[in-house]
Amino acid sequence: MCGIVGCAGRKPVAPLLVDGLKALEYRGYDSAGMALSQEGGLLVLKKKGRVTTLENEIKKMFPNGTAGIGHTRWATHGEPSDENAHPQVSENEDIAVVHNGIIENYAPLKKWLIEQGYKFTSETDTEVVVHLLSYYYKGDLVQAMLQAVSRLSGSYALAAMCATEPGKIVCTRRESPLVVGFGKGENYLASDVSALIKHTRDVCYLGENDVAVVTPDDISLFDCDGNPVQREHSHIDWDIAASEKCGYEHFMIKEMFEQPQALKNTILPRVTEGRIRFDGIDEGFLRSIKRIVICACGTAYHAGLVGRRWIEDFSRIPVETDIASEYRYRNPILSPDELCIVVSQSGETADSIAALRTFKKGGGKVLAITNVVGSTVARESDMVAYTWAGPEIAVASTKAYTTQLSVLFMLAMELGRVKGTLPQSKYDGLLNELLKIPELASKTLDLSSYAKIAAKRHYTQSNVFFIGRGLDQPATMESSLKLKEISYIHSEALPAGELKHGTIALIEKGTLVVAMSTQSALKEKLASNIKEVKARGAQVMLISSEDTEKTMDGVDEVLPLPKVEDELAPLISVIPAQLFAYYCSTLRGYDPDKPRNLAKSVTVE
Ligand code: G6P
Repeated sequence: MCGIVGCAGRKPVAPLLVDGLKALEYRGYDSAGMALSQEGGLLVLKKKGRVTTLENEIKKMFPNGTAGIGHTRWATHGEPSDENAHPQVSENEDIAVVHNGIIENYAPLKKWLIEQGYKFTSETDTEVVVHLLSYYYKGDLVQAMLQAVSRLSGSYALAAMCATEPGKIVCTRRESPLVVGFGKGENYLASDVSALIKHTRDVCYLGENDVAVVTPDDISLFDCDGNPVQREHSHIDWDIAASEKCGYEHFMIKEMFEQPQALKNTILPRVTEGRIRFDGIDEGFLRSIKRIVICACGTAYHAGLVGRRWIEDFSRIPVETDIASEYRYRNPILSPDELCIVVSQSGETADSIAALRTFKKGGGKVLAITNVVGSTVARESDMVAYTWAGPEIAVASTKAYTTQLSVLFMLAMELGRVKGTLPQSKYDGLLNELLKIPELASKTLDLSSYAKIAAKRHYTQSNVFFIGRGLDQPATMESSLKLKEISYIHSEALPAGELKHGTIALIEKGTLVVAMSTQSALKEKLASNIKEVKARGAQVMLISSEDTEKTMDGVDEVLPLPKVEDELAPLISVIPAQLFAYYCSTLRGYDPDKPRNLAKSVTVE
């Protein structure tokens, strides 16, 4: 939700800010703007719409400011508009602020500031921060920031500049991510490292309530009382190509095709001498676990639903998978011998972080499954199992999801082994099959033309229903989400047996039903459900391995999978659905990388 970038240097900084904002656009793209410290004061440019709209404006102006802050917005308070775009500025335009997060007490603060004589020109919660800074500013922006944030509740990453302190950016964070980067003769800040990676790999993640002062020569850090603090530096070793399209039309298709490699990178380093090993996860600890709760949002939640079935099946440990935004508010029963697994690609999702903190109050340990080293979820967890998917830029998650599944699968196997509930021969067989998964993912992608043809036939549908049983059931939930989030076709996933309890009323002649069938024991049951929808005029598309396809009556078309063991099917069965969603989206003329109203990293609740 909203991306922030800033740089204090010695050369015109607008192009660098535009570039950084493009890298952060996955966080929101309702408007973009920047404030530059120039001779004579602050220059503020902001526009509704994508970063390219702002870029076109800037190209006409050649601004020469050498320090600046930029913002790309995902609207919360106030519609997308030029007025509500950031930076928000003080009345005489001498203070500018960009913000990611939500100021929860903005209404009483706004009332109080109006009583003090401040005039508001936007509907944003951010504007209260600007006026608070003006109120407290007595020639020192750091002091003003410390006083202003002491009055805020909610979440924020803030960066501010003041016309009377040119070349200086003051930033701070609480519950929203912010990283500073060290360069030569220029220094940076951003919501995440993807905006900085072209300029520096030497970064430092700000701690909760830290304040940083960024100038061309230095970055100084302070705690919330204004005392200097030191924070550990991190080195970012991502390949720059990983955050570029490399000839693909969209990041999403590139990332789908990266799945075999991402799975290899996530699985192989953890397999040695016929066993799975997780660094930093103690066998004795795994043996002691009595219950597990998996908390996550969106696609990561769907990975958790599959993970639950694997863990219960292999280890007989009871597992519940909960949506993080519900878990945090439902007064959960906490116990120290319970493990919480937080699954989060970004490691910055506000609700997942809150669920983690709620769980920790009970004294249990938290294991993070995340893709971002140094993210808040990683930092606050007791153990981390990284997905080595590389940066995922497209809003719709693909390679992060399949790698999350691979980690959950390996964890389930390990739990089964240490608990003695997964016989050695079964363990060996599953491991053998797991090692084939990258190759099977690759074979599935080789069959992409089936998804393309199917999309040509169906991209004008307005309702699609996904059905499946067993492990296919959560896999269809993710398949359905992919379709609706990027093609805007209404889509629902239902346990196949549940369809007749209401939703079948919506099936009419020509409605598309996508049935997933990878579970041999449930094939016949699913076949009956297919018959039921066929009898009501549905068109049925089947996602299954070639063997199953032959046995299914009444199927109109197939998105084939290579032969895969039932237990491992979710690791590849989503791929044809990802491809189908992608082609439907492009055929409908949409940008699958930036679906409307969505952001990749949801740092507000
Ligand atoms: C957003 C993204 C989804 C993602 C979800 C959870 O809604 O658009 O793709 O699955 O957040 O994100 P996380 O980073 O916690 O996995």
